[in-house]
Amino acid sequence: MSKLLHLMRRGTEFLGCEVAIMCGAMSWVSERNLVSAISNAGGFGVIACGAMTPALLDAEIAATKAMTDKPFGVNLITMHPDLFELIDICARHNVSHVVLAGGLPPKGSIDAIKGHGAKLICFSPALSLAKKLVRSGVDALIIEGSEAGGHIGPVATSVLAQEILPDMAEVVPMFVAGGISRGNAVASYLEMGASGVQLGTRFVCAEESIAHPNFKQAFLRANARDAVASVQIDPRLPVIPVRALKNKGTEEFTRTQVEVAARLDAGEIDMAEAQMQIERYWAGALRRAVIDGDVENGSVMAGQSVGMVQVERPVKDIIAKLVNEAEAALAH
Ligand SMILES: Cc1cc2nc3c(=O)[nH]c(=O)nc-3n(C[C@H](O)[C@H](O)[C@H](O)COP(=O)(O)O)c2cc1C
Repeated sequence: MSKLLHLMRRGTEFLGCEVAIMCGAMSWVSERNLVSAISNAGGFGVIACGAMTPALLDAEIAATKAMTDKPFGVNLITMHPDLFELIDICARHNVSHVVLAGGLPPKGSIDAIKGHGAKLICFSPALSLAKKLVRSGVDALIIEGSEAGGHIGPVATSVLAQEILPDMAEVVPMFVAGGISRGNAVASYLEMGASGVQLGTRFVCAEESIAHPNFKQAFLRANARDAVASVQIDPRLPVIPVRALKNKGTEEFTRTQVEVAARLDAGEIDMAEAQMQIERYWAGALRRAVIDGDVENGSVMAGQSVGMVQVERPVKDIIAKLVNEAEAALAH
């Protein structure tokens, strides 16, 4: 067994795939085509449920299963109003792994997911939370730094890895995400104790990704510094920052926050509704860019590694390149 596969063994055994490289769920992008291509190439694909209805998720899982007999996961967002119905849909399809994003798992959700025999993966933004999640029964953790695309936390991947891996790597499989684009970075996190990695930005321009050609073009043209985090304009309205390419949509988001904050002030909506409106804004804006190709007004969520995405290529080539680079780095 190569040194790389040896370092990844805990991750591959946990995920049931050949290489412990997960393609993180990306709303609108991570659907049947990309997910099955990743799993068929030996990695681990994850369907982004995002704001899907239970019926849509049901159809997407069935369609993905028709395209691969390899394991894949489903990403559910904790705030989804039909979360428990979505968990039941995953159970009905015997989905092997559920990735829960968007904060701490709501009451009863861990038992519901694990009760159906699925393995549960959560995001951990700090060491104390990592310990708490494992105590509550979570099977594996992803630590995702602020370099990543989409919704982000405030701390960089390199710091989270140093802070969390020494205590947790022996306890549960740990996957590192955010800013990874080359195999030598994969190798270094494995050497620090990770069982695998999760990449998003790197896979957006895969040939199998259904992202609109304009969306892919925007990625191919962008540099690291174009992928900026959104700014919170009102301290009373806590908004989870989102990393995306700078465009008119970024400015539009600032205006949306002002409007939502004004409605909150006027007592027209409460805090929970205000936050829901912000999340709905993102879902709509991302769809506009990924599906409709409006990369000026929509949200082009992208991580800082976007500058290293330079050509559109098949998933299996992207994974092979990462593996070769990682193996070369470990052989040194
Ligand atoms: C376009 C886009 C959409 C995303 N949507 C989601 C999502 O719906 N749920 C989620 O948990 N993470 C989402 N992410 C984060 C990815 O799953 C992944 O963790 C992240 O992209 C890894 O960092 P990287 O972009 O630096 O590779 C998204 C990322 C991107 C770029």
